[in-house]
Amino acid sequence: MGRIITVGSSKGGVGKTTLVNALAEFLKRRGASVFCIDADPNKNLSGWLAATGMVEFRIVQADDLVQVANEVSTSHDFVLVDVPGANSTALVNAIDISSLVLIPTKADAKDVVEAFRTYQHVVNAITKARRFSPKAHIPAAAVLSQVDRRASVDQIARKQLEGLSIPILKADLGLKASINHASFAQKPAPYSAMGDDIEAIGAEALALLETFRG
Ligand SMILES: Nc1ncnc2c1ncn2[C@@H]1O[C@H](COP(=O)(O)OP(=O)(O)OP(=O)(O)O)[C@@H](O)[C@H]1O
Ligand SMILES: [Mg+2]
Repeated sequence: MGRIITVGSSKGGVGKTTLVNALAEFLKRRGASVFCIDADPNKNLSGWLAATGMVEFRIVQADDLVQVANEVSTSHDFVLVDVPGANSTALVNAIDISSLVLIPTKADAKDVVEAFRTYQHVVNAITKARRFSPKAHIPAAAVLSQVDRRASVDQIARKQLEGLSIPILKADLGLKASINHASFAQKPAPYSAMGDDIEAIGAEALALLETFRG
């Protein structure tokens, strides 16, 4: 059974779709089979994946997400789920069936608030799962994104997230002009634009999955 990874936040524009796309390529480069689920009605991820042809994908409605993700996980190593930037049924459903939840967060107070709200969904999902399996766990971590290396505001965000007891990846995704530029061409930034950041994020994500392999 493949692992389902949700990249979610109830906040819009935090870098969810960018991270799903980059993680898909990271995993493919390591030889894994990857399937992406686009549960965002804006269909940004599927637009990108259709443009590059890099990864199989399907657009799903929130109510179909559990069934579809479960089904494709039987034939792929990883299923990556992109969700709308809102507190949504899709977000809750995706978290419920995930082996890992990554919560992208810019260094901004509103993003931190929504990271907390999203993390509460993970806590709820763990509570539900433990009714049937007492050791059930869903690892989750915030991932700082669009980090301006010339500023130190990301340290404030890290402190706030820590204060809220939300785990945070050490690795982060820097603010890259090339990612911003690519958005105007309706295509994702090339993998090389992510630099070493995505390799570091991917490695930490895989380590988290391994730690909690049940
Ligand atoms: N690391 C980055 N550096 C520069 N720009 C970025 C970076 N990550 C994302 N962006 C820009 O921010 C925009 C929003 O990113 P993205 O679409 O990945 O966020 P999202 O959380 O999926 O948004 P939504 O909630 O609208 O689906 C992108 O179009 C891109 O231009
Ligand atoms: Mg998106």
